[in-house]
Amino acid sequence: MPELSKRTETFTDSVIRRMTRISNKYGAVNLSQGFPDFEPPRELLDRLAEVSNEDFHQYSITWGAQNFREALAEKQSRLMGRRIDPNAEIVVTCGSTEAMMAAMMTVANPGDKVIVFSPFYENYGADTILSGAEPIYVPLYPPEFNFDPNELEAAFRQKPKALILCNPSNPCGKVFTYDELKIIADLAEKYDTFVITDEVYEHIVYAPHKHTYFASLPNMWERTISCSSLSKTYSITGWRLGYIIAPPHIIDVAKKVHDFLTVGAAAPLQEAAVTGLRFGDDYYRQLTYKYTEKRDLFLKGLDDIGISHTIPQGAYYVLLDISEFGFDSDLDFCEKLAEKVGVGAVPGSSFFRENVNHLIRLHFAKKNDTLNEALNRLSQIKKLKL
Ligand SMILES: Cc1ncc(COP(=O)(O)O)c(C=O)c1O
Repeated sequence: MPELSKRTETFTDSVIRRMTRISNKYGAVNLSQGFPDFEPPRELLDRLAEVSNEDFHQYSITWGAQNFREALAEKQSRLMGRRIDPNAEIVVTCGSTEAMMAAMMTVANPGDKVIVFSPFYENYGADTILSGAEPIYVPLYPPEFNFDPNELEAAFRQKPKALILCNPSNPCGKVFTYDELKIIADLAEKYDTFVITDEVYEHIVYAPHKHTYFASLPNMWERTISCSSLSKTYSITGWRLGYIIAPPHIIDVAKKVHDFLTVGAAAPLQEAAVTGLRFGDDYYRQLTYKYTEKRDLFLKGLDDIGISHTIPQGAYYVLLDISEFGFDSDLDFCEKLAEKVGVGAVPGSSFFRENVNHLIRLHFAKKNDTLNEALNRLSQIKKLKL
C-alpha cells in the first residue's frame, strides 16, 4: 500500500477530544472538552424549530447567508468600534476551528514562521503543520501568564508571517491588557506581520478585566484577521458556526479557501442563529454574570478541597497544580482521575511547548449541579497521591 501523507505524521489526534472518550468510558463527570451541559437560549431553539419548516435546506451563499452576515456585522460593528461591511469583510465558517485554519491557509506559505504563545489551544499546532508553517513559541509566564517583550521581539526578528493571539486565552484564562496588546501591535507593525486572533471567549471575561478587540487598536485593522464563533457565546458548540472578519482583500482570499474546504456553514443553523446575533447588550451581561457565578462556585470548591489552581480572568478553564501527587505523566494522572475519582480533565502538557507535566485543565461551563457533583468527587482526589 502507498504511504499516507507525511504532514499528518507530526501530530496526534486531539488530546482534548480523546479525554472526552476516556471520561465517557469511566462514566466520569466530563470537565475536559469545553462545552456546556445547559440549554442554549430558548429563543434560538424556538427559531430553530420554525426554521425546519422554512426554505433554508440548500446551500447558503458560500461565504455566509446574507441575513447572518448582516446581523453579525451589526453586532460586531457595535463592539469593534468600526463599521464592518457584511458583504466584503466577513466569511462565515464551520466554527472558529475552520476560521483559524482558513486564516492560516490565507496568509501562510509552506516554510513561513508563525508566532504562537505557549500555553496555546492545541488546534494551533495542527493548524500550523497542516498549512505548512513553522511555529515559533513564545512563553507566557505564570501566575499572570505575561510575556517578556524582549523574547517576543526576538521571535519577531525571525520574520514571522503572522502571530496567533488567543484572547481571552484557553487554557490559561489570560485576558491581554490594552498595554500588552499595544506591544504586540507595535511589533506587528515594525516587523510587518499579520495577527490572527481567536476571540471565541470575547463575551466570557471576569471583572475588572476587559476584552479589547485586537483589530480595534490603532493601525491594526489592516493586518488583523479576527476569528471567532457563536459556539461559546450562545452555548451552541454543536452548531459549528464561526467567522472571519478582516479587510476586503484578505477576505477575498479567505472566501476561496473556505469555499474549497467546506462550501459553507449549515444554512438552517445560520438562519436560526440570527436570533442570537440580534440579542441586545443585556444578553451578554447576563452571560458574564452566569459564568462569573460558576467560576466563583468552582474555584471556592477547589480551595475548600485544598488544590492549588490558576484564577482565570476570562474563558472557562482552570489549571490545577498536581505536583503534590507524584505522577511523572499528567496523562496517566488524568486517566486515573477519570477512573478512580470520576472526573474528566485534560493533561496540561497538550497545551505547552515547554516540558510541563504538573498541570491539568478542568472547565466549568456546566450546570451548578454538575459542578457540585464534580467537586464532591474531587474531594476524593488526594487518594491518587502516590
Ligand atoms: C480557543 C478556542 N478556539 C476555538 C475553539 C473551537 O471553537 P469552535 O467551536 O468555534 O470551532 C475552542 C473550543 O474549545 C477554543 O477553546
